[in-house]
Amino acid sequence: MSASDLTVSETLLAWYDRHARSLPWRSPPGEPPPEPYRVWLSEVMLQQTTTAAVAPYYAKFLALWPTVQALAGAEEPDVMAAWAGLGYYSRARNLHAAAKAVTAAGGFPDTETGLRTLPGVGAYIAAAVAAIAFGRRAVVVDANVERVVTRLFAIETPLPQARRAIRERTDSITPDTRAGDFAQAMMDLGATVCTPRDPRCLLCPLAGGCEGRATGYPARFPVKPAKKAKPQRKGTALWIERGGAVWLVRRPGTGMLGGMRALPDDGWSARGDGTGAPAGDWRDAGTVRHGFTHFDLELAVLVSPSEEPAGEGQWWPVDRLEDAGLPTLFAKAAARARAGRD
Ligand code: ADE
Repeated sequence: MSASDLTVSETLLAWYDRHARSLPWRSPPGEPPPEPYRVWLSEVMLQQTTTAAVAPYYAKFLALWPTVQALAGAEEPDVMAAWAGLGYYSRARNLHAAAKAVTAAGGFPDTETGLRTLPGVGAYIAAAVAAIAFGRRAVVVDANVERVVTRLFAIETPLPQARRAIRERTDSITPDTRAGDFAQAMMDLGATVCTPRDPRCLLCPLAGGCEGRATGYPARFPVKPAKKAKPQRKGTALWIERGGAVWLVRRPGTGMLGGMRALPDDGWSARGDGTGAPAGDWRDAGTVRHGFTHFDLELAVLVSPSEEPAGEGQWWPVDRLEDAGLPTLFAKAAARARAGRD
């Protein structure tokens, strides 16, 4: 039989038999799985965290609470404290609540539907535990699987709309047996071969039938959603110079760049529309652009050697402007004003 006669799952499982990562929460390929408590604990920890970060926490939890009953009997503050540093702390609260529910019920549910009734157990964890701990055929989709599958089938739909197609395609290649090994093989392929930026297609057991590879640019899958255009705002900053000094103000403590030293301006803000330029004898020195998290700002720079500054501020020597601690926006505006000066 040539490689192309094997199904995706047969090819991948043969690869997994040789290349499975050895991880503390796993049995070697083909061997009986660890007990459900261990599988569930690891999947809860792994859902938003890397394998490297999880490993010491997984060991610590098992040392403190070797069984789900022991975890159920723990004090919640102790569970939270043991979780400190892993992030997403609702996971720890749910973990403890789920341990109590499992203990009260006399054991783990062994189906996806049953598992989903536990606090903190969503579609991903339920499928992973059902497949890995109970050998059930379940369609397990995490970010690694999304990447592998969108490449394998060259799925052009961007995320998140592609999720339904990804699920269907994953379903179509999931085998009836060894579903847990298959899921973990997909994760390992995504983590070690079908990597986000530079997929190592030459090492990939599925390269021969990979439609993404056939396009010549597999790394562009999964297709990302188009970035939302940022709002464009306008404002005006003022450069008032006299005797080698420029007039600087301190911005209000709250709001954009709160508390920072700055050039006086027209009160531009996330809502400003650039209509606040002052009357008077101003020379237009051009504009500078700056990207904030939620909007882009185009700041016109007006220069005057004669205007009287208004409000509170201080004269600052132009040749020591680097020491003023101006935020980048105003450092750009200052450079603009000075460039156009002579
Ligand atoms: N990420 C989430 N679950 C995993 C598992 N069982 N093995 C490797 N990586 C994972």
